[in-house]
Amino acid sequence: APDNIADCVAATDGVRDPDKAIRGTACCPPKLSDSIPPDYVLPNFPQLRIRPPAQRVDDDYIVKYRAAIAAMRALPDEDPHSWKQQGKIHCAYCNGGYSLEMNGLPDVKLQIHNSSLFYPFHRWYLYFYERILGKLIGDDTFALPYWNWDNPTGMMLPAMLAPVFDDRGNPNQLLNPLFDPFREVKHLPPAIVDLQYRGTESGLDCIDQINTNLSTMYSQMINQTTDTFFGTNPGDDGKGTPGSIENGAHTSVHIWTGNSKMPNREDMGNFYSAGYDPAFYVHHANVDRMWHVWKGLNPLTNKDPIDDDWLNASYVFYDENRQLVRVYNRDAVDVTKMGYDFEPSRTPWINNRP
Ligand code: C2O
Repeated sequence: APDNIADCVAATDGVRDPDKAIRGTACCPPKLSDSIPPDYVLPNFPQLRIRPPAQRVDDDYIVKYRAAIAAMRALPDEDPHSWKQQGKIHCAYCNGGYSLEMNGLPDVKLQIHNSSLFYPFHRWYLYFYERILGKLIGDDTFALPYWNWDNPTGMMLPAMLAPVFDDRGNPNQLLNPLFDPFREVKHLPPAIVDLQYRGTESGLDCIDQINTNLSTMYSQMINQTTDTFFGTNPGDDGKGTPGSIENGAHTSVHIWTGNSKMPNREDMGNFYSAGYDPAFYVHHANVDRMWHVWKGLNPLTNKDPIDDDWLNASYVFYDENRQLVRVYNRDAVDVTKMGYDFEPSRTPWINNRP
């Protein structure tokens, strides 16, 4: 992992035409001090933050969540807590913003996707994002919602993310800060998500699409080993192999949500821009839940990686107090130690052997 954010460079890997990258490829975080980031110590949480399924929250929750995002959007861009800086984190870590020394090679570009770094990196990313939102609204128990795309009741883009229109009929981000203009219009509700989407419409009717999705979940969650579920560690070239969910449902939901008319399928369809759509964090809350659910399916066989390379891999983030800190995979394996858990939602795909 990077030693210093000072080493961060413009991130253009995987961006088709950087000049057409509307979100910009200058992704490095602001530097507030020269000191080396200390190791992060998880606080003791007196109460768990319970993440709810997005399709089942009440109006009070939506009002609160929107207020938190509005407060984040209102911060000046240079603030490490701002909407823009939070979005940039994904770009810096995923499009080649950092290089690192690895296996004796001096300059391997860090790419936390397509490898076993995928789950823990995103877990920490959401952890701080959630803590920052809680801080902005003065509620330490605030928990992110999850886009429950593995359950038939959650297979549409969550309604809370949809546009709210002003008097003149225009979608207005002030009325709904969870709205993002760069999404695929034909995939707004009531379209059913396609968990195998790679850019071509499946043409399935609603019932068949739901059943296909459940079988897809079964294949990617059941009978996976630690290696196939997490993917493998980055090797000498910085590349590993992706885990089943990362490569499957996770990537499909990204491509399905991004706008096919944009040069880089912004926002959700490209690593560099995905963090600018509020849908990203709701989507990843469910990806994170899949890690937790998978371990619960069979605690005897479904285990986290235990090799030192994985356990000691680290990232740097600004915490909710604007302290730059270093976090480790080894501290991300237990959600309750990180102060949160998931409100249960049924996992009917368990019965959908294809
Ligand atoms: Cu960092 Cu969903 O990708």
